[in-house]
Amino acid sequence: MADYQSHEFDVIVIGAGGAGLRAAIEASRQGAKTAIICKSLLGKAHTVMAEGGAAAALANADDRDDWQTHFKDTMKGGKYLNNWRMAEIHAQESPDRIRELEQWGAVFDRTPQGLINQRNFGGHTYPRLAHVGDSTGLEIIRTLQEKGIHSGVDVFMEYTVRDLLQAEDGTCTGCVAYDRVDGKMHAFSAKSVILATGGITRCWSVCSGSWEYTGDGHALALWAGAELIDMEFVQFHPTGMVWPPSVRGILVTEGVRGEGGVLKNSEGVRFMFDNVPEMFKGDHAETEEEAKEWVRQVVAGQKASVRRPPELLTRDVVAKAINKEVAEGRGSTHGGVYLDIASQRSAEEIIAKLPSMHHQFRELAGVDITKEPMEVGPTAHYVMGGVRVDAETQESTVKGLYAAGEVASGLHGANRLGGNSLSDLIVFGKRAGEFAAKRATEIAQPALDVSQVESAVTAALAPLGREGGENPGIIYDDLREMMQTKVGIIRTNDNLESALVDLKDFHERVKNANPGSALLYNSGWHQALDLTNMVDISTTCALAALTRTESRGGHTRDDFPEPDTGKWSHTINVIWMEDSEVKIRQEEIDQPPEELEKLLDRSKKKEA
Ligand code: FUM
Repeated sequence: MADYQSHEFDVIVIGAGGAGLRAAIEASRQGAKTAIICKSLLGKAHTVMAEGGAAAALANADDRDDWQTHFKDTMKGGKYLNNWRMAEIHAQESPDRIRELEQWGAVFDRTPQGLINQRNFGGHTYPRLAHVGDSTGLEIIRTLQEKGIHSGVDVFMEYTVRDLLQAEDGTCTGCVAYDRVDGKMHAFSAKSVILATGGITRCWSVCSGSWEYTGDGHALALWAGAELIDMEFVQFHPTGMVWPPSVRGILVTEGVRGEGGVLKNSEGVRFMFDNVPEMFKGDHAETEEEAKEWVRQVVAGQKASVRRPPELLTRDVVAKAINKEVAEGRGSTHGGVYLDIASQRSAEEIIAKLPSMHHQFRELAGVDITKEPMEVGPTAHYVMGGVRVDAETQESTVKGLYAAGEVASGLHGANRLGGNSLSDLIVFGKRAGEFAAKRATEIAQPALDVSQVESAVTAALAPLGREGGENPGIIYDDLREMMQTKVGIIRTNDNLESALVDLKDFHERVKNANPGSALLYNSGWHQALDLTNMVDISTTCALAALTRTESRGGHTRDDFPEPDTGKWSHTINVIWMEDSEVKIRQEEIDQPPEELEKLLDRSKKKEA
């Protein structure tokens, strides 16, 4: 008989980033006995990588802003493949969630009038990002963590969840996890389970994601029979560090461009002026003089003209433009392009507004950004795809299983606007907590199904008893390299087909991975288990990317370089698992009702 410890809660939240903490606070506020299970130490979530701010139409920096404009920007940025109701809820509720954080102690930067300050970011019509210098995610985590630990939430730190438990009808009834420190197994009965595990970007070798980002929640949902959508849409943030190699991929916040930073190629040309797609023409400065005037107005604290510099185009556009400069031989010394804030703002302003970037480049690259340009290039940063959820409740297609934050899908469509993730976490984290707690008041505590728990425990321990097989670290590196090459920023039919063949091989390699037999502090064992998620989730990405024969948002096909104005302009990929095989089908996206449709300027939609 397998050895494990049993626990009972009303609501289990898996993950302790912004969405998980906000969900747990809400569930606990509603009276639910709540626990968080998190893979890392509390406070160390990937949320800290959203540096530049949280988007909310507070209208503090520009009184022309309102939720309707935020809704429109989000839909346009997502190339209209968003779940319109999620985009509406998000735009309407973000301001309240930000003000709530302020009441809970978040120390946002201020306008001269003492209001929460807001900065410019790509794709947002007005300065909309409430921020704390360039450490906004960190401040949000700090605030939520303090609130959470005073709300009576139990925390299981450094635990990894390996399986969801399910009743015969498929309803989620809890989960099985192991303690990463001592290898002991734990079974949790829960009336509701919330996935808040973040993303999958560790599947690529150049990424901004922290080590936890191995698609755990995506895989748990997939294995439990839940539907995933939009898995082809992966956001390559335009600006990651490119040098030195040890720090390649680390995020360089879009806040640098929001504060006026410009992108140049090796010839000193601001190439973004030549990369404005039809659908964004008119929104962006057409000449360097216009762009400079915008910066001048921003620095002077004036209401800037709506036309923003082309460096603030959406991330998909900027990342592809950088890729093109490098591919055509106009890249920087180490294979990126130059991001220059030194020529645009004074040293005092840079240190005041971008202290972490100043520190990061000085310590990691020996570059003083108040004097020299940074070298930057695209880095896998975010997945728009994830667990399909109900817009109001965040319940997945599996009863009792909820998802919020990056692991959930729908809000961002084909491409996420920067800053929309931090507000996503707090808006939908709250909703997930509220509805998960409501469900907990309506049902009895599920009994632990001993045979399910035992088979989950046996599967989790299986790698420890293996003979032969490769070290998991080798498979991990190979997988990430393969995904970078074949399912990266620019994709082709041949590469994607070849990736799917490779992934079958990876599946076999992972089945035999041999991490040695130690239970205590055995990071190879943890990696062998993480790889099972990574292979299945990489498969969902490659399959969805192969199926979508067009380029849109975070999905670019070299063999179909244009957006399709027909089927794919209103169709999403739905993915699920059946008999251990990943399956795919297409569905028409639900269209907004007339009053919201009127807010969208769709006249240019076909060019998107
Ligand atoms: O560039 C950034 O600061 C990232 C923000 C985000 O992804 O929302």
